[in-house]
Amino acid sequence: MSIQEKIAHLEREFFEQLATATSLEDLEQCRLTFLSRNGTITQLMTILKELPDQEKRIVGPLLNQLKKTTEQAFLQRQTELKAMLARADQERMRTFDVTAYRFHELQGSLHPYTLTIEHIENIFMSMGFIIADGPEVETDWYNFEALNIPADHPARDMHDTFWIDVPGMLLRTHTSTVQIHMMEQGKLPIAMVNSGRVYRHEATDASHDIMFMQTEGMMIDTNISIANLRAVLQEWLTNLFDTKNLNLRLRPSYFPFVEPGFEVDISCPFCKDGCSVCKRSRWIEMGGTGLIHPNVLRACKIDPNKYSGFAFGFGLTRLVMLKYGITDIRLLHSAPIPFLQQFGHQY
Ligand code: PHE
Repeated sequence: MSIQEKIAHLEREFFEQLATATSLEDLEQCRLTFLSRNGTITQLMTILKELPDQEKRIVGPLLNQLKKTTEQAFLQRQTELKAMLARADQERMRTFDVTAYRFHELQGSLHPYTLTIEHIENIFMSMGFIIADGPEVETDWYNFEALNIPADHPARDMHDTFWIDVPGMLLRTHTSTVQIHMMEQGKLPIAMVNSGRVYRHEATDASHDIMFMQTEGMMIDTNISIANLRAVLQEWLTNLFDTKNLNLRLRPSYFPFVEPGFEVDISCPFCKDGCSVCKRSRWIEMGGTGLIHPNVLRACKIDPNKYSGFAFGFGLTRLVMLKYGITDIRLLHSAPIPFLQQFGHQY
């Protein structure tokens, strides 16, 4: 590259860098690269001395010109940029209102339902269960018929069903519907758990709402017995309440879809000899359970001579209220922000 070419090249490089400098730091970088004592333009001046006189006469003025134009351009850009930055500063100051109200930053927290469901699901997944789901608008078949509750069965009266305008369709009154959906898929064995909303047409008060939540579990395989049922219940409730001394009590009871059927009580995890939560009884009711009725297995095309299983349906709403000491179901369902803020992200 001849010196003339070098000069032209440096000039182009300099102006390119100068044009893209948008801060004083960029500008300083440009000065250091080209115009400082070690800058490329200054360095090029030093070779002038070594050139023969004849060439000096040609290159000298070119180099001087380069130095002059670049220095001038630099100073001009510096003035412009300073003015521009000062204007931007002024603009910022103008929109800065010292009297402005600063909103408190609201930090989100998980709803106690979400916290508890996640906890339950983690416990069941660790035992190899899958998490299932099912619709809230159901047919008579899934809510009643397949669960061994035919049309004239008196148990229907206890469900206070919300029927919807479409004949034969309803809002599910329990999560046992999910059992049927799972069995109908025809994949055995099954170990599943499901939490979801259920609806009952009943008067509301501090502990009743027309919508609440249940957690349903089911296990079907060859050779499932009440011993398996007890072990699974013991494991998840012990983990859920984080107590080593949790006792289970199965009281014989009747649900059309299980035989034998039980109500499950747990020893009160909050006291040793009676408190307000267990109403001094030391036991707390959790929900229903039992071995799946052969009629239910048959309705889902599962051979009751080969397979057996257990199912349970617990009141998740009640459980959450107990666990967090929530005394009014309406707080849980209307979820006012000060209420929610009490719950962090931990279980
Ligand atoms: N589905 C029953 C209810 O809502 C609870 C239950 C489920 C009982 C499974 C036994 C077995 O009352």
